[in-house]
Amino acid sequence: MGTLRSRRSVLAVPASNPRFVEKARSLDTDAFFLDLEDAVAPLEKETARDTVVHALNEGGWDGRVRTVRVNDVTTAWAYRDVITVVEGAGAELDALVLPKVTGPRDVQWLDTLLTQIERAVGLEVGRIGIEAQIEDARGLVEVDAIAAASPRLEALVYGPADFMASLNMKSLVVGEQPPGYDVGDAYHYVLMRILMAARANGLQAIDGPYLQIRDVEAFRRSAARSAALGFDGKWVLHPLQVEAANEVFAPDQEDYDHAELILDAYEHATTVDRRGAVMLGEEMLDEASRKMALVIAGKGRAAGLVRTRRFEPGT
Ligand code: GLV
Ligand code: MG
Repeated sequence: MGTLRSRRSVLAVPASNPRFVEKARSLDTDAFFLDLEDAVAPLEKETARDTVVHALNEGGWDGRVRTVRVNDVTTAWAYRDVITVVEGAGAELDALVLPKVTGPRDVQWLDTLLTQIERAVGLEVGRIGIEAQIEDARGLVEVDAIAAASPRLEALVYGPADFMASLNMKSLVVGEQPPGYDVGDAYHYVLMRILMAARANGLQAIDGPYLQIRDVEAFRRSAARSAALGFDGKWVLHPLQVEAANEVFAPDQEDYDHAELILDAYEHATTVDRRGAVMLGEEMLDEASRKMALVIAGKGRAAGLVRTRRFEPGT
């Protein structure tokens, strides 16, 4: 299992556009990726690598998770993307995003190449993580093996645009329910499948982009669905989406306070009173309640929430 970092909002930044790269520094996201893949035209791919190296080395990313999306393993660009970026700025990079992963071999290839470069240039071996994008039918069918493919893996990332294309879905609105499907969430199975594989392997699960960038309410609805299932965050493409993602993927204040109270009450009950099942107000708590509270409290603390209620024994 890789390091679990906060990834409520993950900003997509086309690396061929220095203006967007500059703007990204001022946006309050937990993470970002400098994109060398689908947001960069083929003729710009090579110069974009240099922009990435420069942007990472220049710094100014204040604690954000710094990642770069390389091209997929079937392209002629992939190996040199990795080599140029990691040799040039490996010390300033937290993880690489590998798109269109279709099996464990893709991840193992990247793991091996990263290790070679780390050894060659004297970086700590294994520090740079991997996020694997699941964005076609083959990737989803192989998702369990992919999620277990490398100790560098930190997250599985759903790629709705490529996925919808891969399935021949009858819709052009990425991330939105396909017209004509009126009996639930058309993506429930896909999201749940990715989440299952991620959690079974101690990884984060990140939802992909919502392309109608001006419709913040629709973004919020889409984000709320994956957040409700347990996803850790979502890609954002525009400043308007950032605040919504940070909010939706953090617990609200009331749930956060409640979770911390459960942890305190349960700790008090098991250690001071030596009981494994207790009441908090009208609520019965046991070890499973503690685990659920730990998840919500963990998300709240990562989001910088501050408690507004204290536990008092006997209440
Ligand atoms: C992201 O890469 C997507 O295909 O949606
Ligand atoms: Mg994609």
